[in-house]
Amino acid sequence: MRFQNSNNKTIKIAIDGPAGSGKSTIAQKISDLLNIFYLSSGAIYRIIGCFLDCKQINPEDSDSIVQILKEVKIEIKDNRYFLNGEDVSDKIKSSKSGMLASIYSKNPVVRKKVNDIIREISEKNSIVIDGRDIGTVVLPNSDLKIFLTASLEERARRRWKELKEKEENISYEEVLKEIEERDKADSTRDISPLQPAEDAIIIDTTDKTIEDVVEEISCLLKEKGLYGNNCS
Ligand code: DC
Repeated sequence: MRFQNSNNKTIKIAIDGPAGSGKSTIAQKISDLLNIFYLSSGAIYRIIGCFLDCKQINPEDSDSIVQILKEVKIEIKDNRYFLNGEDVSDKIKSSKSGMLASIYSKNPVVRKKVNDIIREISEKNSIVIDGRDIGTVVLPNSDLKIFLTASLEERARRRWKELKEKEENISYEEVLKEIEERDKADSTRDISPLQPAEDAIIIDTTDKTIEDVVEEISCLLKEKGLYGNNCS
């Protein structure tokens, strides 16, 4: 694993964007390319959202959330996510957990918990993190900030395909509606709304393959001296 760049500093790459924009696939590939850690901030929100929902905690009840979050220990090993020792990586991929993450992520105490986890991990490791507010709020000093977008229909199509592969019985129309709702909730909330950082590079992935996007980002990494030699 590579943990530091030539200035002896850990490397941080922020990949933000809405649901279905390709963040997790691209972030994973960039982390493989650089041989550094990959963290999905959405996965942490999903774990916490499912946990709080299971305990029937009102999303606005900050006092109860603070108390209950003391019971939560999240660990990441080999790209698997563990909640209090249980591997929940597959469970949190459902569309319901995405909605729960979006609902509970509006609460500042939830955001603080997630941000503390991310900052602790990224302090010690070179890392690629995907999310909504990594470049704007969580790690504003990231070495490279990417904001991925794609049309609503394309994002819904990708997410629908993914859910069907996991045998979730859901129609394209339902996924489209859900993504539309999540986009609205994530980008209009008061705290850390989904938006590109001023210095983020925006990449529209609608008509691009995963390889095209990885190539584009690897060129940006080369330009910044974070990967390989010059870009042709
Ligand atoms: O990236 P994802 O679809 O797994 O994220 C699930 C939800 O978590 C998303 O709809 C909003 C919330 N989230 C957030 O508020 N901030 C982040 N950095 C990542 C996710």
